[in-house]
Amino acid sequence: MKTSFRTDYCAAFNETFEGNSITISGWCSSIRDHGGVIFIDLRDKSGIIQVVSDPNNSSEVHKIIETIRNEYVIQISGTVRLRSENTINKSLETGKIEVLIDSAEVLNSSVPLPFQIEEEINADENVRLKYRYLDLRRPNINNNFVLKSRTMMITRNFFNEKGFIDIETPYLTKSSPEGARDYLVPSRVHQSSFFALPQSPQILKQILMTSGFDRYYQIVRCFRDEDLRADRQPEFTQIDMEMSFVDEDDIIMIIEELLNKIFQEIKGISLDSSFKRISYQESMDRFGNDRPDLRFGLELETITSIFKNTDFKVFKEVVQSEGSIKCIKVENATMTRKNIDELTLFAQEHGAKGLAWIKVLDSGLQSPILKFFSEEEVSSLKNQLKLKVGDIVFFGAGNEDIVNNYMSAVRNKLGKDLGLIASDSFKFVWITDFPLFLKVDNKVTSTHHPFTMPRDESIDETNLAKIQSKAYDIVLNGTEIGGGSIRIHKKDLQEKVFQLLGISKDEYQQNFGYLLNALESGTPPHGGLAIGLDRLMMYLTNSTSIRDIIAFPKTQKASCLLTEAPSKVFSEKQLTELGIGLIEED
Ligand code: AMO
Ligand code: AMP
Repeated sequence: MKTSFRTDYCAAFNETFEGNSITISGWCSSIRDHGGVIFIDLRDKSGIIQVVSDPNNSSEVHKIIETIRNEYVIQISGTVRLRSENTINKSLETGKIEVLIDSAEVLNSSVPLPFQIEEEINADENVRLKYRYLDLRRPNINNNFVLKSRTMMITRNFFNEKGFIDIETPYLTKSSPEGARDYLVPSRVHQSSFFALPQSPQILKQILMTSGFDRYYQIVRCFRDEDLRADRQPEFTQIDMEMSFVDEDDIIMIIEELLNKIFQEIKGISLDSSFKRISYQESMDRFGNDRPDLRFGLELETITSIFKNTDFKVFKEVVQSEGSIKCIKVENATMTRKNIDELTLFAQEHGAKGLAWIKVLDSGLQSPILKFFSEEEVSSLKNQLKLKVGDIVFFGAGNEDIVNNYMSAVRNKLGKDLGLIASDSFKFVWITDFPLFLKVDNKVTSTHHPFTMPRDESIDETNLAKIQSKAYDIVLNGTEIGGGSIRIHKKDLQEKVFQLLGISKDEYQQNFGYLLNALESGTPPHGGLAIGLDRLMMYLTNSTSIRDIIAFPKTQKASCLLTEAPSKVFSEKQLTELGIGLIEED
């Protein structure tokens, strides 16, 4: 790409340019002084080209080159020449040529850097985040953003071709419940009042359906004040969409087509034309969670019924308290006692009381708990689990939620530790038929959000746990990358759901009155979904941290080390204008 500073990018040149006079600009790396002749790897966004300063060519220019240090920004003009056969650098695209410098200008200097600008560095992440401008200069990180930009472009083109309209929704808005805390912004004009930054555009995109847009999409930032993890940031980006006059299959089909397009164009991979679907209940039963990693087996088996009359105290108590006994069978296991002890410790960190096990040896079964089992129990186990020599079975017993939680963690760990996961495989699965409500600490909450349509609109209030919803999550390799639902489009049903959630009429009128007004003004049936773009990009770029695909991310402690945000306000006046007084810190 020609500009006043360059003929083209560094990596645009090759042998065909031999003898040409060119101008290039970029950063200096790997500066080598070979007894008078100086070699520099000149780098720009396209790649690297070797430039050479020979004092016999121009001693004046050479004096300038001698002052150059790592990461100086320079512009040079020179002549392309072929390298001799034995100096060809096969690891560079431009490795067959170099540029003999005829003139040079230092455009900017650089202080010595805290880490080298290389693909792989072992600098502490906090240092990388503080000097993020340098970290982003590293070619592999830099490339993540090229891919993210392309993914957004593919997405926009896709939705555009399908008749979707990109509509912005405000960041200064009212609370939109997605289960996290809100980030609040004080209003100067309306003292004691606050905007909430949106956790998602959920309610407003539904209202756009009321307005008749029919198909909406937006690549939009969302803000959630929640505990951060490797795949969670306080601000992240959603590919958000909503459609009118649709049911679950319509949304699922269009999202499968989009994901196919993205994987085809970014990774050159053809996915299945339609993805597997598993109901929430089946997923909990077989994998212990609602985001199963389908790249390997090791499914959970429920064996509670085998032990309904057991004498083994641990299992007996669980059966009596209507808990659950589940197990995982590892075939051809070569696990040592030490491996088993480590796995037990891991299970305990995830809430297990213990992780009983049985090994199937040539000589028969071996296990510390075998002595507690009756012959009938042993034979039922052998039958149900189809045990054979070499198997190890791990058991989890207790409250069903707790057992599911640690057995799914154990399953994932075994999958990783035993090398059962092919790193280049992408297994998508839809999880469907979620329960509408969940009970957390004896409080009824929404599994997704309160605007989700129940499968049966005539709600059976006597058994809330049984009510299914028209919600669906899209899961990739054990990560929930997106979720959505068909929405409630009638006011009465929406009010009913608010009531079942224990929200008083005053409260829901105040928080969601505008939605209820829209629902009674001709809102069509509608539904949609949002994909976590950053999480998707982690898979498209093989990144293990969401921070590697957000240009200016927050740390685990929700602060930005580059800008040092959040920070104290500059002057008391700012606070006074907002009508805010600070509580003295200890
Ligand atoms: P949900 O809350 O499931 O749905 O969010 C959709 C997707 O966004 C991603 N995601 C996150 N990514 C990074 N950091 C976070 N803190 C974070 N939180 C969520 C996940 C998730 O699957 N309004 C609904 C969508 C709908 O119903 O249409 C919503 O926001 O990949
Ligand atoms: P204990 O009688 O507590 O010594 O337990 C006997 C065996 O059962 C040990 O191997 C424990 O790890 C295991 N164990 C104890 N509690 C549980 C549980 N809730 N689920 C699975 N295994 C357990």
